[in-house]
Amino acid sequence: MTLRVSGLSISAGVGDRAVPLVRDVSFTLGPGQAFGLVGESGSGKSMTALALLGLLPRGVSVTAGSVKLGDTELVGRDDRTLADLRGRRIAMVFQDPMACLNPALPVGRQISEVLTRHLGLGRSAARRQSVDLLGAVGIEDPGRRAGEYPHTFSGGMRQRAMIAMAVACEPDVLVADEPTTALDVTIQAQILDLLVRMQDELGMAMLLVTHDLGVVAGTCHRLAVMYAGTLMEEGRVGEVFEDPLHPYTAALLAAAPENAMRGRHPLALPGTVPSPGALPDGCAFGPRCPHAHQECRTPPADRRVTDSRRVRCARHDALTLEGVDR
Ligand SMILES: Nc1ncnc2c1ncn2[C@@H]1O[C@H](COP(=O)(O)OP(=O)(O)OP(=O)(O)O)[C@@H](O)[C@H]1O
Ligand SMILES: [Mg+2]
Repeated sequence: MTLRVSGLSISAGVGDRAVPLVRDVSFTLGPGQAFGLVGESGSGKSMTALALLGLLPRGVSVTAGSVKLGDTELVGRDDRTLADLRGRRIAMVFQDPMACLNPALPVGRQISEVLTRHLGLGRSAARRQSVDLLGAVGIEDPGRRAGEYPHTFSGGMRQRAMIAMAVACEPDVLVADEPTTALDVTIQAQILDLLVRMQDELGMAMLLVTHDLGVVAGTCHRLAVMYAGTLMEEGRVGEVFEDPLHPYTAALLAAAPENAMRGRHPLALPGTVPSPGALPDGCAFGPRCPHAHQECRTPPADRRVTDSRRVRCARHDALTLEGVDR
């Protein structure tokens, strides 16, 4: 099942006061594909991810565009339809497992409930399957752990339990928003391995939201780079890393990516990321771009450069002709 996001725009507030958080985002996520969405803090990654599941916070809404899962349009659907699709066809893994695990219910029960609700399994079948799922995500002694409460689980184990819950109904698409950021480095690697294994075994498509380019390199087929609410570049992981087409991507790759994305060490460029309420005219990256020119003062179009690559840079042709290394 293919997920097609086209022209997605998201704003906070309404009318004259509306602040654009995400603007004209398009990408396609094929079955079995892992797609990385990267960008600095505040660039709109989480808003994009949440919009796919109809989970935007109060006061934030989709103002334009479409999200299609196969033939099903998800934008503008009522809460009940979306709640029915969530978990069954599209599921989410959050940074903080406690945001989705109920502290007052044993972990196994929570997974059983998902199975009963979406797949109509009887009580004992659901219980058996939830134990199997906990085992499949690497929880030892899953029969016993299924009966325990989330607070008895370590951070990594909770993350595993949340992944078990997310994949319980074998959704077509798994959206993971910074799923390993809160974990120790060794546990991070294990959880990423688990996600990739699950994705592969179940043939799911995965959207992996991260500020860490290293994570994308190790897990994803394709990636899109987000800046101030727009996608600046999209392509296969290898080609983007080897030959970035957007000056912003190049700046990210040139900086120590981990630090740059978290805003600890800003890019070695003038200025800072503009806030959604104070975007510059034209290219959002223009005021910081070493290659900016007159033409960057009008908003650049999203351009397909090859079958597999797109870039949003008005100077793409000029820079290519001049042989400029971004
Ligand atoms: N509930 C909200 N109402 C209004 N604006 C919001 C709300 N939540 C977030 N924003 C704003 O939306 C913009 C995009 O936020 P988002 O959470 O999508 O960024 P992000 O790329 O996921 O960042 P991070 O890496 O820090 O998670 C930010 O400017 C943020 O301040
Ligand atoms: Mg986020």
